[in-house]
Amino acid sequence: MKLNTARIALLAGAVLLNVSAASGHFRFRSDTTAVQDTTKYVSPYAEQNESCLKCHGQARYEYTNESLGRQVKAMMCSERIVRRDEYYNSNHKSFSCTDCHSFEYEKFPHPGELRMEQKLNCLDCHGGDETYARYHFEAIDTAYRESVHFKLEEEGFSCWKCHDPHSYKINIRNNENLREAIRYDNAICLKCHSNYDQFQLLSDREEINILNTHSWLPNQASHFASVRCLECHTKVDERMPVAHLIQTKDKAVKLCNECHSQNSILMASLYKFQSKEQRRDGFFNGVIMNESYVIGANRNEYLNNLSLLIFLGTLGVIGVHVFFRLKKKVTHKSDKEE
Ligand code: HEC
Ligand code: HEC
Ligand code: HEC
Ligand code: HEC
Ligand code: HEC
Ligand code: HEC
Ligand code: HEC
Repeated sequence: MKLNTARIALLAGAVLLNVSAASGHFRFRSDTTAVQDTTKYVSPYAEQNESCLKCHGQARYEYTNESLGRQVKAMMCSERIVRRDEYYNSNHKSFSCTDCHSFEYEKFPHPGELRMEQKLNCLDCHGGDETYARYHFEAIDTAYRESVHFKLEEEGFSCWKCHDPHSYKINIRNNENLREAIRYDNAICLKCHSNYDQFQLLSDREEINILNTHSWLPNQASHFASVRCLECHTKVDERMPVAHLIQTKDKAVKLCNECHSQNSILMASLYKFQSKEQRRDGFFNGVIMNESYVIGANRNEYLNNLSLLIFLGTLGVIGVHVFFRLKKKVTHKSDKEE
């Protein structure tokens, strides 16, 4: 298990570097266009949140043990650490901890019954809200309910398992760097699918080794860095910004030409947010050309028009040729008859 996790981490990290350094045809838009956002967000609740983060913000915390009458130092387990930098970069950065958690958490030790606390779900806040219409929350919820993970709700699965409450931020929609966006999205799946401990919290199934189950895919590392798990495992829905209907493995994309073709499924998924702006410069599949070279998927509108022109031109020449041949024949014939 440990080995598997480590290997996948290596795949995601080291291989990415090697690959990008070794092959000339890689071009990252980030090289030229990425502008580092240096403005630091200051939450109106920053100070209030520190009353939680003084313990949950790092590995070590302190409290006054009243029975012992002294300060006690202890370690916060990693699963309960909320990183300030991630939190204040997330979608919900403007929240105070107690917007989602009970005020009772200000007490320490935390009252035991808080463990049973019901958590709000996405739709409780985002359902039916016009402000968020473009995200299609209701449609996502419907798709999720048909997905393979929904049956795990009884074991504790929820939208939060993929959208970490303290770090989730919109990614592919805004991210200029496609590779980084792919890595972010894939890390969401790999949290469980490359860590059997996490997986076992939800299922009794035997470990699924992602590297083995995808061994049919050539250049696996390169593929995992260039496409998302979602591309092959969801049912594409043109209307949805991000497809959420994850299907069983027998329905996953296995045919190479679903991607390696002119009407690649990637246009409706991975390149969805990119393609609109890229369409302007004459390259219909501009993104595929820029980001990576997908065999068979490239098509240039100018070149297409040019070849059509050449084709029509050739037809024209043949036409003219045939016309004069016929004319000559007719004149020849009538010459003879005279
Ligand atoms: C003095 C340190 C300390 C402070 C301050 C503190 N916590 Fe905790 N918190 C802990 C420790 C230790 C645990 C793990 C043990 C436990 O569950 O009681 C924990 C556990 C939790 C859990 C997980 C409970 C579960 O279901 O397993 C939540 C949620 C939580 N804290 C939220 C908060 C919030 C919100 C605040 C601020 C209002 C806060 N904590 C302030 C130390 C602290
Ligand atoms: C947008 C709502 C939201 C906000 C804001 C929020 N939390 Fe949470 N928090 C949750 C949810 C939901 C869970 C349960 C996650 C799960 O079930 O996977 C959780 C779980 C936790 C846990 C238990 C460990 C874990 O990750 O499951 C701790 C500790 C915690 N939160 C602390 C905090 C602190 C500290 C803050 C403020 C800096 C905070 N939370 C802000 C929604 C929120
Ligand atoms: C307690 C209410 C609440 C819950 C629960 C909640 N959200 Fe939010 N969410 C908000 C609010 C309010 C904002 C706007 C925050 C801001 O603008 O600072 C927001 C912002 C967002 C944004 C960014 C919108 C934008 O255009 O910037 C996304 C995406 C999002 N939430 C997704 C989710 C998802 C997915 C879940 C469940 C996993 C969820 N939210 C749960 C209240 C909530
Ligand atoms: C199996 C994992 C998984 C589950 C479960 C899941 N999501 Fe997502 N969701 C993702 C991934 C991956 C993305 C892409 C994130 C990105 O690139 O912005 C995403 C994106 C989103 C977005 C942003 C779409 C956009 O237009 O930018 C919203 C909103 C969202 N999910 C809501 C939900 C809600 C609501 C639920 C529960 C009903 C849910 N998700 C459950 C994995 C999941
Ligand atoms: C919180 C943990 C968790 C996350 C995150 C997660 N999964 Fe899963 N997934 C599971 C578990 C557990 C199962 C096994 C369900 C069962 O018992 O059949 C599963 C099953 C699956 C299956 C079904 C395999 C089959 O047998 O047909 C697919 C496909 C899948 N996941 C893909 C994904 C993708 C893609 C993502 C990211 C968008 C993702 N998962 C995120 C835990 C997770
Ligand atoms: C190029 C398409 C493609 C990509 C990318 C892809 N998968 Fe798959 N995946 C498949 C196919 C096809 C199968 C079924 C393989 C079989 O049955 O032989 C599968 C099988 C699976 C299974 C079920 C394995 C089992 O034996 O039950 C899981 C879980 C899974 N994939 C998760 C992931 C995760 C997580 C990612 C991202 C890191 C991912 N997949 C990326 C196509 C893909
Ligand atoms: C989900 C979409 C998808 C599927 C399915 C898919 N590919 Fe790819 N493939 C890509 C993308 C995107 C790249 C671009 C990789 C790069 O160079 O960044 C790629 C790259 C490649 C490369 C070049 C690898 C490199 O290192 O540059 C080969 C060879 C390849 N694919 C073969 C295949 C074969 C054979 C299959 C079927 C067994 C297949 N692909 C299935 C999307 C896909």
